[in-house]
Amino acid sequence: MTEHLTIVDHPLIQHKLTLMREVDTPTAVFRQCLREISQLLAYEITRNLAMTTRRIQTPLQEMDAPELAGKKLALVSILRAGNGLLDGMLDLVPSARVGFVGLYRDEETLEPVEYYFKVPEALEDRLVIAVDPMLATGNSSAAAIDKLKEAGARNIRFMCLLAAPEGVARMKEAHPDVPIVTAALDSHLNEMGYIVPGLGDAGDRMFGTK
Ligand code: URA
Repeated sequence: MTEHLTIVDHPLIQHKLTLMREVDTPTAVFRQCLREISQLLAYEITRNLAMTTRRIQTPLQEMDAPELAGKKLALVSILRAGNGLLDGMLDLVPSARVGFVGLYRDEETLEPVEYYFKVPEALEDRLVIAVDPMLATGNSSAAAIDKLKEAGARNIRFMCLLAAPEGVARMKEAHPDVPIVTAALDSHLNEMGYIVPGLGDAGDRMFGTK
């Protein structure tokens, strides 16, 4: 991917995103739309994967047929809301390996602290797609990508549902080599760090917590 930010403005994505944004949308509809949008975003973010060919036999003749090259993709969920993007992505890429990064913000230092980190082996040989639905300040996403790079990842993409300009700028500064794919770029962050107009707390809405 060459663009730093790709906004996937496909009508189906935008229609489903509107349903997700609405305050009264039930949890089940929110989850179903999230799953479907992640499938569509996964389609876009994997568009230019490396390919090779394999000699196969069709019922009619032999041919050199295209297939994905290299090691299986690694999808890495940034806990906890990132988990909501996994199912839809795994619908499309069922053999992908899956990792998890958990970070919280230290109340005193305001620095991200890692509480969980488990990723597939040979990260350096895989395309790594880090997922988190809301790119807000960008601090936790940038910190998660720091950790992935420390673990050896060299080819990383970031997929989210909504991005704020502040988060995109933070990621561009910290990780200019990591392309971002999102369904929408919203207006700004409010004083609480929520994306506006946004959809509220993505984790609470997908898991039905408050
Ligand atoms: N995280 C969320 O879940 N929502 C926002 O608006 C910002 C960060």
